[in-house]
Amino acid sequence: MDRIKPVVGNGIHQVSPGAAQAPQTAQGAEPPEVPGQFDYVKTKVVPLRAEHLERNRIVAFNKNSNMSGPIDLLRTQVLQAMEENGWRTLAITSPTPEAGKTVLAINLAMSIAHHTTKTALLVDFDLRRPKVGSSLGLPMEKALNELLSDQAGLEEVLVNPTLPRFVVLPTRVPIPMSTEMLSSPRVNNLISDLRSRYESRICIFDLPPLLSSDDAITVMPKFDCVLLVVGNGMNSKQEIEECLHHLATVNLIGTVLNKADEKPRTYY
Ligand SMILES: Nc1ncnc2c1ncn2[C@@H]1O[C@H](COP(=O)(O)OP(=O)(O)OP(=O)(O)O)[C@@H](O)[C@H]1O
Ligand SMILES: [Mg+2]
Repeated sequence: MDRIKPVVGNGIHQVSPGAAQAPQTAQGAEPPEVPGQFDYVKTKVVPLRAEHLERNRIVAFNKNSNMSGPIDLLRTQVLQAMEENGWRTLAITSPTPEAGKTVLAINLAMSIAHHTTKTALLVDFDLRRPKVGSSLGLPMEKALNELLSDQAGLEEVLVNPTLPRFVVLPTRVPIPMSTEMLSSPRVNNLISDLRSRYESRICIFDLPPLLSSDDAITVMPKFDCVLLVVGNGMNSKQEIEECLHHLATVNLIGTVLNKADEKPRTYY
C-alpha cells in the first residue's frame, strides 16, 4: 500500500493499539455533578460498566488512566483548532468501514468532558450501522430513531452516562432511507439546535464511512469541521485521494492514523 501523507498542516495524529488497551482500574465513572450549563434534571443518568467499556476499547472513561495519552493529545489539538475558528460541531468519518471512528469518537468526547469545562455531546449519525449506544452499553428505550419520527422529544432521548458533562444521543437501530433522512430539513434543524443551545458545548457526530454510501457526503457540509480517521494499512492511495476530493469543500481539521503499530510510550 502507498503511504498516506498528512493532509493538513498539523499532519497525521497517530493512535496506537496500545492506547486502546484496558485500563487497570475500574473506577472511571464519577457521580454526576449539577453544573450550570447542562440540565441533568431532565437528562436520564445511566451507569457505565468498566469491563464493558474496556472490552470495547473505551479507555478515556477513567480520568486517571495512563492509556488515554494519545486521545488527550488529540483532544488538545482538536479543541485548539475549534476554539480558534469558533467551530462547535465536529464530524468523524473514515474512507471505509472499521477504521475505529466510533471508538475514537467516544474516547474523544469523554476526554473533552473530563478535562475541560465544556460539555461533550456525542451523536450517533451512523444511521446504517449505529454502534455508539452498544459500545457504551447504554439501555436505549428511546433514541434518535424516536426523535426523528416524532415519537420523542430531545429531552427524552439524551442520556448522561454518569460522567459529568458527557451527553449522548444514541441511535437504537438502523434508520431506513438514511441518505434521505440525513439530507432532510429535520436533520438540518436538529444539528443547528444542538449546536446553538449551549455555547460551551462541543457536538461530536459519529458518521458512516465516506466511500461506502452517500450518507457521509450528504451530511458533511452541515458541520463546522471534519476529522478523518484512517485505519493503518486499511486504504489504498486511490481511496485516500477519493476521500480528499470529497473533503475539498469542508473544514478538514485533521487526519488520525488509527491502529498504528507504534508501541505506547512510557511516562519518561
Ligand atoms: N486504536 C485501535 N487499535 C486497535 N483496534 C481498534 C482501535 N480502535 C478501534 N479498534 C477496533 O476496530 C474495530 C472497529 O472499530 P469501530 O467500530 O470504532 O470502527 P468504525 O470505524 O466506527 O466502524 P464502522 O465503519 O463499522 O462504523 C473494533 O473491533 C474496535 O475494537
Ligand atoms: Mg462506527
